[in-house]
Amino acid sequence: MKSKKNLVFIGMMGSGKSSIGSIVSKKLNIEFIDVDYEIETKLGMKITKIFEEKGEKYFRNIEEAITLKILKNKKKVISLGGGAFLNKKVNKEIIENHISFWLNWDFKTLLNRIKNSHKRPIAFKSTKNELIKIINNRSIVYSKAHYKIDCEGLSKNEVANNILNMYEAH
Ligand code: S3P
Repeated sequence: MKSKKNLVFIGMMGSGKSSIGSIVSKKLNIEFIDVDYEIETKLGMKITKIFEEKGEKYFRNIEEAITLKILKNKKKVISLGGGAFLNKKVNKEIIENHISFWLNWDFKTLLNRIKNSHKRPIAFKSTKNELIKIINNRSIVYSKAHYKIDCEGLSKNEVANNILNMYEAH
């Protein structure tokens, strides 16, 4: 694959953007960058603490700036935070200049994974019904990704192999 485009993983919290992204990066032997991890490193604070102490708006501004900066790289595997693709500037940049993969799961699977997650403020401050609404609303935006990857029933390794096949054919 000669493309210099970044491979960008998008999707809900708990969809495996970091773990599957990391498997894909190893299989392709290219560097992996996790945007949430970069934000935490830059601010020296866990995401939960950033939300608690500075608020969501502050987090979203930092998330936009760091995501756009990371996207200036060439040919990396990048996993975004679950809300980043909803940002208009991030969304436009990815659609125009990168290859994006939406990791799509049944909402029940996502709910089970995130409902008791203490490291995800959006998950622990929302009720089950609110989370279902968030999943449905975000799915409309996620569906703009270049590739929709249906993950249900597959192992992470199988999902990664499906992505590699799509990437090679891109
Ligand atoms: C968020 C998802 C999180 C993190 C933050 C907000 C969201 O990332 O960026 O808690 O709005 O969906 P993960 O999708 O990696 O959990």
